[in-house]
Amino acid sequence: MLNSKRLVLRALHPSDLSTQYLSWLNDGDVSRYLETRFLPQTMEALQSYWQNHRDDPANPWFAICLVEDGRHIGNIKLGPIQWLHRRADLSLFIGDKSCWGLGYASEAIGLVRDWAFRELDLQKLNAGIYAGNIGSRRAFEKNGFELEGTLRQEAVSDGSRVDVWRMGLPRSSWLSAS
Ligand SMILES: CC(C)(COP(=O)(O)OP(=O)(O)OC[C@H]1O[C@@H](n2cnc3c(N)ncnc32)[C@H](O)[C@@H]1OP(=O)(O)O)[C@@H](O)C(=O)NCCC(=O)NCCS
Repeated sequence: MLNSKRLVLRALHPSDLSTQYLSWLNDGDVSRYLETRFLPQTMEALQSYWQNHRDDPANPWFAICLVEDGRHIGNIKLGPIQWLHRRADLSLFIGDKSCWGLGYASEAIGLVRDWAFRELDLQKLNAGIYAGNIGSRRAFEKNGFELEGTLRQEAVSDGSRVDVWRMGLPRSSWLSAS
């Protein structure tokens, strides 16, 4: 469990696999930049994903919840962790759109970043972001991530090929900024 002033990041419980969670994955605004959009999102698929990934040490993932009322508003995942290189990708979504723009993504990224460097002793964190996803890029930048490259026409989005930004944060940069 990871805590900040406004957020608790905790393991997902079966009770989190709600119709609300399902509705996030089927909401075009939320799923626009998520790989989940390519798969049919049903309750069975959600439950099966949870069963298969709940205890996966290479892909720890957390429910992002509000301290004030415990509300589950999205998820954040660290993985896959490449232990030989001591690096991992970080990805997230805030499914509850009423919570967008309130700094929750930035706060959640900061919690997992600090945990990954302090507790897991990872040496590098990365993020892949569809070009145009300014909110996500900004949330990572606010946590010290920098643009390291642009993968040109890397992915399909809305029927067109789009670039993907690769952002990264070495542990040494995090240390010198802390
Ligand atoms: C992208 C996303 C994670 C941002 O979450 P959030 O909680 O709204 O982000 P924050 O409130 O921490 O905002 C971070 C910064 O980005 C800015 N921002 C947020 N959304 C923005 C948008 N759509 N356009 C431009 N800037 C935006 C915020 O103003 C803030 O910058 P500031 O502090 O300089 O003002 C959220 O919109 C989301 O989950 N979207 C759908 C899924 C997704 O895209 N996930 C990321 C995949 S890499």
